[in-house]
Order: sequence, then C-alpha cells, then structure tokens
Amino acid sequence: MKGNGLRNGQALTEDERATIGPRPPLKWVGGKWGLLPQFEPLLPRCALRRYAEPFVGGGAVFFRLLPENGVLIDKNEELINFYCALRDSAGALIGHARRHRNDRNYYLSVRAMNPADLDPLERASRFLYLNKAGYNGLWRVNSQGKHNVPFGRYENPRIVDEANLRLVSEALKTATLVAGDFQRVLDYATPGVFVYLDPPYHPVSQTANFTSYTAGSFNEADQRRLAEVFRKLDERGCLVMVSNSDTEFIRREYAGYGIQVVKARRAINCRGDRRGPVRELVIRNYASSIRQEGITG
Ligand SMILES: C[S@@+](CC[C@H](N)C(=O)[O-])C[C@H]1O[C@@H](n2cnc3c(N)ncnc32)[C@H](O)[C@@H]1O
Repeated sequence: MKGNGLRNGQALTEDERATIGPRPPLKWVGGKWGLLPQFEPLLPRCALRRYAEPFVGGGAVFFRLLPENGVLIDKNEELINFYCALRDSAGALIGHARRHRNDRNYYLSVRAMNPADLDPLERASRFLYLNKAGYNGLWRVNSQGKHNVPFGRYENPRIVDEANLRLVSEALKTATLVAGDFQRVLDYATPGVFVYLDPPYHPVSQTANFTSYTAGSFNEADQRRLAEVFRKLDERGCLVMVSNSDTEFIRREYAGYGIQVVKARRAINCRGDRRGPVRELVIRNYASSIRQEGITG
C-alpha cells in the first residue's frame, strides 16, 4: 500500500486517512463508497500490492485501497479516457473543466457534442461536467451510444473539486487503465493479485434494473461469463471477490464459494419507497481472518 497510508513517513490515523485520501471523483451508479465499512473486514489481509478491478466505475474500492499496482478496466470508454486525462494532465483538465456553466441550455449543448470530434482532454472535461451537472450522475446512453441524461437542476453542483481531483490523479499514477470488456482481466491475472469484480447486477425482478452504463446491457449470458472468469481467476491463484444482487441465479452460479450478505442502500429508484436497504451478496474464494457475523443481514 502507498499513498494515503503515509504522510512524511508517518502512518495516518483512520480519521486522517478518511479526510486526506482521495474519494471517487464521480457520482457513479452502484458506487461502493457507502459500503466500504462493510467491505473492510472482507478484504484480504495480505497481498494487496497488486490489484485489478475490471468494472472500475467510480473506483471506490481502488481509491480506498491505493494499491502499488492497479489494473483498472471498464467498458465505458469515456470513463477510462477521463481517468487517463486526469492521471496524465490534471492541471489542464481542471483548467478546462472550470469553464463549464450550470445552465440547462449550455448542458444540452455539451451533451449533444460527439466525443469523437473532441480531443481527449475536451472529452474528459465534457465527461466530468455531464457527470456533475446531469441528473443523479447517471451515465446513460441510447442504442446509438448517445448520452441522454437530463439536466440535473442542481443549485450549485461542485463540478471541479480541485483538491480531490489532484489526489485522484496521484492515486492513478501507477495504474494501468484499460477500456474494454471485463474478460481482459485475465491478461493481468497472475497468482496473488487481488481482483474485485463489481458488475452491473443481476436483476431482482424484470423491471428493477439499471444496466445502461454503456450501450448494450449486461445479461444472464454475461453473468455466466463472469462466473467463469471468477473460476479461472481462482484456478490461477488470485484472490477474488465479487459483488452482486441476492438472487437464486447468482447463488447458483457461485455455489461452492463463500457467500456473505451485505446491506446496501439502493441509489437508483424513482420510487422513494424502494430506496431502503437491500440485500446484496459478496462472494469470495478466500477466507478472511475476521469473523463475518456482524455484517450478515
Ligand atoms: C456497478 S458499476 C461499478 C461501480 C464501482 N465499483 C464503484 O464503486 O463505483 C459497474 C461498471 O461496469 C461497467 N461495465 C458494464 N459492462 C461491462 C463489461 N462487459 N466489461 C467491463 N465493464 C463493464 C460499467 O460501465 C460500470 O462502470
């Protein structure tokens, strides 16, 4: 571990770490920041120097762990381009993003831009802006890949949090960033790597799900493909942890591995009465030295 674990060679207290360390720079559907206290006892107690996260999204677990070497993968090319730009040109990106205005017509004009016509820095700046000024931080695209999230109508959204963006940029310096399918993780999976998998969840009902992070949804065939990758990673001697919804299908796919229940607050649901805690599963191929009863629901 490096980064926010130390300051001038002195270990930080947990409080200092929480204040000083980077936080996810984006709002992200399914982001795990709020679940980290429940996750901590489930993380491996050793071998955290090498880490891979093939559905990185807002990167909550990565920004908490700050491994020496991280491989961060996501199918969302705009997201990976943003992380690359932030890692390599934080100052320029921050300067560019400061130009954005919280105004509906301006938002719609930025939303209408074609990322392919922009250079990587402009694309990253557009991505950050749409994330902060758009509704609920959603990244949703239609079948043609066009962003279609409405203006968020926030009074004063913090589009540029310079201090955090700079911490995030530092944290990303040693990371390998890959835009692609989660299966690419197999290219980096050597024995001892800790792999955290946080896919779009299997729907608990026909209508319950949000899977449009990228064009094309994540279906049961993808969930099976993922369970297969989990088994391959296990065979290779990686430490593997996966999050998913608590459904019979998921329990069947990972039968034989250790399953824990955690309670999460659902972020995306238009009906307020469905935003209460929901049961989610954490499945691992390793045991932790800490007993788990406290977190089961
Ligand atoms: C539940 S979110 C991850 C949230 C993340 N753990 C966090 O804390 O913010 C799932 C992510 O998977 C990505 N994704 C969807 N399908 C994918 C695929 N086939 N391969 C890689 N990433 C994919 C989405 O773009 C999204 O960022």
